Amino acid sequence: MSGRLAALVALALAGCTRLPVLEPAGPFAARLRELILDFTLVSALVWIAVVLALAVAAFRRRRAAPPDPALHPDARAEHRLHLAIAAAVAATVLVLVGLNVASFATDRALSTDEGKSALTIRVTGHQWWWEVTYVHERADQTLTTANEIHIPVGQPVSLALQSADVIHSFWVPELAGKKDLIPGHPNTLVLQADRAGEYLGQCAEFCGLQHARMRLKVIAVPPSAFEAWRQRQLLPATVPETASARRGQEVFLSQPCVMCHTVRGTPAGGKVAPDLTHLASRTTLAAGTLANTRGNLAAWISDAQGVKPGAHMPSLQIAPADLHPLLDYLEQLQ
Ligand code: CUA
Repeated sequence: MSGRLAALVALALAGCTRLPVLEPAGPFAARLRELILDFTLVSALVWIAVVLALAVAAFRRRRAAPPDPALHPDARAEHRLHLAIAAAVAATVLVLVGLNVASFATDRALSTDEGKSALTIRVTGHQWWWEVTYVHERADQTLTTANEIHIPVGQPVSLALQSADVIHSFWVPELAGKKDLIPGHPNTLVLQADRAGEYLGQCAEFCGLQHARMRLKVIAVPPSAFEAWRQRQLLPATVPETASARRGQEVFLSQPCVMCHTVRGTPAGGKVAPDLTHLASRTTLAAGTLANTRGNLAAWISDAQGVKPGAHMPSLQIAPADLHPLLDYLEQLQ
């Protein structure tokens, strides 16, 4: 029975992404971890003190034949009681003020670094994916991608958070705290990774049917690798070289794909779904739902509603003879 239970638990957890909440990989997350640990420690001490006081009161032996306190008030005992209550109130106020000051100081420390970041990335929440735009004063240096945010290691990066529809919440626990993306109310969040690596994130505010499959990934790389990535992403889509990929491009441009998706360098200029110019350079599909493999891409195109029910991507009826050319085309969008 316990074997079956373990198998069930393993099955239930297989679909979960573990987010390491107390394993910071940068200074902002580290500060938040300190605050969480301080709050937990102080709350635990208060809890222990209250339980001890309760236990003392409950188990203290009564004095023999106590006089009725209402008729014979003991002045000294009354005084002691008043002192104890005053001390407890003072301690409560001190603890609350202390925790508030710690929380305020952490908040200030996290927000004063906003001005120091050289890189600003605009993150727009959509049901149910993340639009990621690297803002630059020159339009030809601005680039848009989706669901994966590349950042340089060791530098604060400013995120300008906004929403295209409902409230979402950006959360990559190893790098920063949570911040809501609210329609009509831009927010900022600064994050920093001190070591290269991939950091998983998840929308942390219920935003509809596929809230759980609104994942993202921050990929921190050395600054030179980041710049190389940025330069590649700025290029328009690769021109298909094989006959099959060329046929696939025709299929793509003749399907409703172009109404929602952009592939820079082609007539496809839709703005309501992820930019596919460099689709093949990303590691996942459908906001972290599937690994970006040929088979998953085929499944996502032909049965998006089966993979992610309710998503705004329709399941497309692509003729089998057209599907492989289409995959060939999409897979060369490096
Ligand atoms: Cu977006 Cu939950």
